[in-house]
Amino acid sequence: VIKNTAQDVDASYTGTADALRAVEQLMFDVVDCDVTLLRDASRHILEAGGKRLRPRLALLSYAAVGGTRIADVVPVAAAIELMHTASVVHDDINDHGVVRRGRPSVNAIWGRTFALLTGDYLFTKVYELMAPYQDYNIVLAEAAVALVEGETLQASAVKEGNFTREVYYEIIGRKTAALFRAACRLGGSLGGATLEQIDALAAFGYQIGLAFQIIDDVLDLTASTDAIGKSAGLDLAQGKGYAAAYANGQEPVAVAEASGHNSTDPMETIKRKLLKGDAIGEARMTARSLVDNAVAMLDVLPDGPNRDALAEVALSLVEREF
Ligand code: IPE
Ligand code: IPE
Ligand code: MG
Ligand code: MG
Repeated sequence: VIKNTAQDVDASYTGTADALRAVEQLMFDVVDCDVTLLRDASRHILEAGGKRLRPRLALLSYAAVGGTRIADVVPVAAAIELMHTASVVHDDINDHGVVRRGRPSVNAIWGRTFALLTGDYLFTKVYELMAPYQDYNIVLAEAAVALVEGETLQASAVKEGNFTREVYYEIIGRKTAALFRAACRLGGSLGGATLEQIDALAAFGYQIGLAFQIIDDVLDLTASTDAIGKSAGLDLAQGKGYAAAYANGQEPVAVAEASGHNSTDPMETIKRKLLKGDAIGEARMTARSLVDNAVAMLDVLPDGPNRDALAEVALSLVEREF
């Protein structure tokens, strides 16, 4: 099953469809190399599709503030998506994910060593694409740093057994929301936005990034691997994600310890409690209110179809089933 292909994305956002196609082409061009394994593994993960949310947000942010030379933002959008792609390749090593984007993950096919190297390769290709962009490099670099920090905080929190809600928000802010923020900020900056508009776009990106990860965590709990196109149920099994934070509240309890052992019972108990109680509804409400706030921030952008499309993307993140 190949889910969420880039073609679907093109069909629904005609305004940036050509630019998204150019982003696709550029990503494939930059991973074309004579080290066949790197080329094949990179193509494997890129061809699988994915929602292409981050480049779409960058392109729409650019267009929404009145940017007209869309080709100027294409390499940056491609760099953002390659960074995200690198992060999921590495993520599947860390999380032992064997399905990604409806296909076997890179580690499932080529093994951990080559998945590590493929992720490294994709990350380093970001430098190449960003080289002409001078000061904008720092924005994406900050997102990359945050991503690694977030992933590290997460692994530490699981290990230390302090996966509280507070820690959870710290983690998802860095591992996920920071890149959404960078995508919107970069699009706006390149499009010639005012400082006020850039700040609004950055805050918009960050908040919808938080909402996106909360919903992603809900789906990890409630959806099937087939539906989401990636290994489901890993968070609970590994003592992390929204479920862990919810079970721990402000006081970490048994989740982390339980996940360290093979005793499935405590985890099953937590899952039953979560699914029966208000946790899922609460998570969806939190995500929804983050998105509503984020959309309100777009008021400082000129009214128009691209601003509407940004709001539409934001809302789709909390409605999604995959
Ligand atoms: C997956 O992101 C990683 C997270 C931050 C949860 P996406 O759900 O955007 O992944 P693709 O690109 O569509 O596969
Ligand atoms: C993804 O975290 C965050 C990244 C930066 C890759 P998850 O581990 O929750 O993402 P999925 O659910 O595997 O895509
Ligand atoms: Mg992970
Ligand atoms: Mg994962």
